[in-house]
Amino acid sequence: MTAEPAIARAASPLEAAGRDQHGSFVDETFQIIARHPRAADIVSFAAGAPAAEALALARADELMADVLARDGMRALNYGVTEGEAELREIIAADARARGIDASADDVIVTAGALQAIDLACRVFLRPGEIVVSGSPSFANALSAFRNHGARVLEVPQDDDGIDVAAAARALRQRGERVALFFVVPNFDNPTGTTLSDQRRDALLDLAEAHDAVVIEDDPYAALRYRGADLAPMAARVRDRVIHFGSFSKTFLPGIRVGWCIADVGTIRRMAAAKQTMDSSTSTLGQRLAIAFHRRGQVAEHLAALRRLYGEKQAAARRALEREFADTPAVWNDPDGGFYFWVRTGVDGREFLDAALDEGAAFVPGEAFTTTGSWREAIRFSYCAPTPERIGEGVQRLRRAYDRVRARR
Ligand SMILES: Cc1ncc(COP(=O)(O)O)c(C=O)c1O
Repeated sequence: MTAEPAIARAASPLEAAGRDQHGSFVDETFQIIARHPRAADIVSFAAGAPAAEALALARADELMADVLARDGMRALNYGVTEGEAELREIIAADARARGIDASADDVIVTAGALQAIDLACRVFLRPGEIVVSGSPSFANALSAFRNHGARVLEVPQDDDGIDVAAAARALRQRGERVALFFVVPNFDNPTGTTLSDQRRDALLDLAEAHDAVVIEDDPYAALRYRGADLAPMAARVRDRVIHFGSFSKTFLPGIRVGWCIADVGTIRRMAAAKQTMDSSTSTLGQRLAIAFHRRGQVAEHLAALRRLYGEKQAAARRALEREFADTPAVWNDPDGGFYFWVRTGVDGREFLDAALDEGAAFVPGEAFTTTGSWREAIRFSYCAPTPERIGEGVQRLRRAYDRVRARR
């Protein structure tokens, strides 16, 4: 084997010293869209972020004035690592209402659910250990596991979520220890799928058989447009599940406030890890979340969001049926959340290039895997555009789709 010339290995001392990191092609897609000459006019089905109308519903200006009047400089100081006491109690009370046996001591407030994922890696993962997730899966979590030295085992999923029997078979074949199972139980990112009742129990049994920890990452739970809520896994088994939530999808992602619910020992370890990262989650962000709850209209706010996104989902479903019914493309029909998973039968990146030229965007499916699969699928996110723009955007997608297929 020929050795690579030294210059190719180390363009600079910094480059030679650095270790590569896994990022997220989802985040990169946003930059690709922003740099595009038609950026201002693009109908984006790429973002998994709240719509502008949803952010406006929070009436953040009033909350900000309220926080500064009530809390003054305290809202702009450092806070305690585990989080503001009042917010921890709000989060615990909400969890109890969902059947999770939690007190404020079982809560750590984090810089979004993303930081909770990173903290879980620091506390529960040793390099080389295995994390099991469905395929496709939340891109940023897959990268976090890999950045912490884990190997990710992606197992198939269907309309009921991760195929637990397939996971059990794959693990039997490998005969290796699993450290973590990662699931988004409600309206998964990117597929929109909900893990069925029976699969939740089966997954907990499998985790117990492997003496592994289950991450239940649940930021979309409140955004159900039809059907009945299922009991969280943390409400079924309390001592093996760490449960994550977030204010990002239902309030304001810019405040970067999420949380983890676990046993007190895990919270203590996570707090120690967090002290080397950011010491405490933004006090201002936490105080805004507290003010939002003090205002006393959270239930109405969530109901308004469900109406808003339910209408967008219906508009997206109608538009896909209208524009793509006569093509080989197929898509699912989730009960909530922000996403459809569309199997297009054409290369996702090629499709994205053509879509951008036509004035539409999405995230190619291969962003959501470590294996290079899902090249012919896309995450179609309907949360941001208005229903009218959704109709226009899907027409543009159809034009792009026809162009890509005509090249074959
Ligand atoms: C499944 C899932 N987990 C976590 C996050 C990150 O949320 P946060 O903004 O709270 O870090 C997202 C956001 O896209 C998500 O889809």
